[in-house]
Amino acid sequence: MTTTLELTSPGRSASLENDRMKMMLLEEQIAKLRAGAVFALNEMLDLKDMNTGLHSSRLAEWAIRVGEKLQMTDSDLADLETGAILHDVGKNGVAESILSKPGKLDPDERRQIEKHSEYGWAILRVIPGFEKTALLVLHHHERMDGAGYPAGLTAEEIPLGSKVISVIDSFDAMVSDRAYRKGLPVAEAIRRLHEGLGTQFDGDIVNLFVRIAVSDSSEVNSSVFIR
Ligand SMILES: [Fe+2]
Ligand SMILES: [Fe+2]
Repeated sequence: MTTTLELTSPGRSASLENDRMKMMLLEEQIAKLRAGAVFALNEMLDLKDMNTGLHSSRLAEWAIRVGEKLQMTDSDLADLETGAILHDVGKNGVAESILSKPGKLDPDERRQIEKHSEYGWAILRVIPGFEKTALLVLHHHERMDGAGYPAGLTAEEIPLGSKVISVIDSFDAMVSDRAYRKGLPVAEAIRRLHEGLGTQFDGDIVNLFVRIAVSDSSEVNSSVFIR
């Protein structure tokens, strides 16, 4: 039987302190390994297409701001941040000629691009600690009305983090310049987000994000857009 005397003896507390230090070091190393994995995968995206890497970092910042407003736990926020950075990591599995094709894609090319969310899931789910992030990535192109991919999930079935990524990803894609077209004005991108309320996007998330987009932009008059 352990007595109070044994628990508090100098030898015992030194060894407890030692275990605690080892645990902290281990946790620090795991955190560094995870951050390194995210950084390496993001670099791979950057090598494939400069825009994608920048797009991912912007999304991470917005995702955290929306997630905080949704009062997500620290652990859900961390998964969301990683998911936002790596949402398109599966594009590494899609041919360059399709990714950078200007103009319309044929149905087969579209199918190949749409595979990127499953590829992303397949890459991330094998990294310990990234299992939830992998699911957020898998479902980042689902739609509220079930017409998205890959699973055709509807509203409540879609993970919250995936719904956040969907809104901010669509917005950033709309306002960013592409080789073959100029980005839309912020006001027009916001209008299109509102147009997709309930069909493509979650209404609460759009409203939360629009406040952020408006406060970041000098282009739009906030009283017109905040609902
Ligand atoms: Fe995507
Ligand atoms: Fe994206």
